[in-house]
Amino acid sequence: MIPESFVQELLARVDIVDVVERYVPLRKAGANYSACCPFHSEKTPSFTVSPSKQFYHCFGCGAHGSAIGFLMQHAGIGFVEAVEDLASSAGLQVPQEERNAAIRAKKAPLTEPMARAMRFYRDQLKATPKAVDYLKNRGLTGEIAAKFGLGYAPDGWQGLQQVFADYNDPALVECGLVIVNEQGRRYDRFRDRVMFPILDQRGNVIGFGGRVIGEGEPKYLNSPETPLFEKGRELYGLSQARKAIQEEDTVLVVEGYMDVVGLVQCGVENVVATLGTAATDANVQKLLKQANRVVFCFDRDSAGDRAAWRAMEVSLAHLADNKTVEILQMPGNQDPDEFIREHGREAFVQQTRSATRLSEFLLRELVKQTNPSTAEGRAMLVHAAKPLLQKMSAPILRVQLTKEIAHRAQVSQAEVEAQCGLKPLARSRYAPAQMKQRPVPSSIEYKLLQILLHKPEWAASLPLDLIDRERVEGDALIAIADAIEHGELPAGGFGLLLEFFRNTPHESLIAGIAANMVEEVDLGALEAMFNDSVARLRQTAVTDEIKRLAARAKEEGLSAEERKRLTELLAKKHPGPPSTSGGPI
Ligand code: UTP
Ligand code: MN
Repeated sequence: MIPESFVQELLARVDIVDVVERYVPLRKAGANYSACCPFHSEKTPSFTVSPSKQFYHCFGCGAHGSAIGFLMQHAGIGFVEAVEDLASSAGLQVPQEERNAAIRAKKAPLTEPMARAMRFYRDQLKATPKAVDYLKNRGLTGEIAAKFGLGYAPDGWQGLQQVFADYNDPALVECGLVIVNEQGRRYDRFRDRVMFPILDQRGNVIGFGGRVIGEGEPKYLNSPETPLFEKGRELYGLSQARKAIQEEDTVLVVEGYMDVVGLVQCGVENVVATLGTAATDANVQKLLKQANRVVFCFDRDSAGDRAAWRAMEVSLAHLADNKTVEILQMPGNQDPDEFIREHGREAFVQQTRSATRLSEFLLRELVKQTNPSTAEGRAMLVHAAKPLLQKMSAPILRVQLTKEIAHRAQVSQAEVEAQCGLKPLARSRYAPAQMKQRPVPSSIEYKLLQILLHKPEWAASLPLDLIDRERVEGDALIAIADAIEHGELPAGGFGLLLEFFRNTPHESLIAGIAANMVEEVDLGALEAMFNDSVARLRQTAVTDEIKRLAARAKEEGLSAEERKRLTELLAKKHPGPPSTSGGPI
């Protein structure tokens, strides 16, 4: 992946006019340049390049794009190649690619020894009855042992010498299989243990967990962090579980190797484990990519309760409104493996169905901690909720929770929002394209989008709460506002904007609109259009609320407060003297 910031920097450094001129002779025509289109045959020029927008467009065939897009289209090359070509002509180095290559080079010599060690341990297991018996006694069949590549590291200081011709190879130390002591003597890290290989998403062995047979300390010994193995990023069992996770659209997360293997043995296959650590951001991001529903299963003890809280905190920052994270605290003192063995698959699945939603868990724990039956307790509740609400990334869920907390704290939603410093949340521009409707060119949002493509910075003054996020256009508007708010979208014309949204759900919509707007526009007229559209947006919101209240009035009557609101709204809709129209941008 080429970093976004580099693409931005590159486009800011190159001028599309120069890039196009390398291939097509351009003639100045007003503020723009024109030529006969290189992408279709024509006699009169309808191909236009706009230096102010860093954008090209052909009125004849509709071709359009940024400098990168031009190279891709003209030279028939891919995005990465086009970026590399432009970068070298601008005297810039493409980052990341190089870093990736360095990382790959570091990893490559370690993958083979790990795979070889796994095969060795697996063969040793077959030859070691006490290890086979141990696994059998824990209810595992040969089939499941094979599925997870379970093995046995023999008892002896240098067992791996049997498979590595050069036991002194530094790679063995670097991948964590061999330890060098202070006297320089080398010995196997894993001895007399049942071995659980840890695989990455492509199925390469990147680490091991080794369990003592029976009692002993430490119960599990794990590979150290190596260039291959970064504990906080990996999930045990993911490569074996992928298909089941997709089928169920749910991933269960447990704490131990044996929980994974034990659940799979009993027919619950959509399960992975964190590697003896609390859930990390990287874990949660990866999990939410696998499925729309993530269920964390924890033992019911103080460590498990802490881990549950931690998983909740981490998840808040990565949730989207179409995803759920749930917390299951196992009943009794059993871990998932023990539970499923005693009670069977059905009972376990039943447990997962009654897991606690993240929001419910959060609320329940906060209420437990703060006791909102007193004024002080209610104040504490809001205080304690603040860092959690601030972390939340799912806009609608956050509103729901804010309301619940406000209700319990006996204050208004607006007060909670103010106390917690909550700003309206925009949907991330990487949000999944779950809304499949087509854009509607007559919608206000569409109009606003057309305007904002000329002046993205105006997005900062959009009333985001009034924009219909369920429309693709609304979603794109919010993404632009979000990018502006975070300073991610520098000024520089739509060429930049288009590249910014490449490979996002908004790409085709924005490109489609951009295609029709290479002409220069009058800024005053544009500003008037923007103000008019925002006013229409407000009017629509007022009308909708009036309709809603009127419908409720018919069905169940309105409270005094609601009646007051209705009167206010009606006054807004039919103002007496002209009110504040055309507010500043
Ligand atoms: P548990 O102690 O709950 O083990 O540790 P378990 O999974 O139930 O194992 P069995 O059933 O006794 O065999 C949970 C996880 O914590 C890590 C391991 O990843 C383990 O699976 N752990 C635990 C260690 O890394 N080292 C230890 O000494 C103990
Ligand atoms: Mn266990």
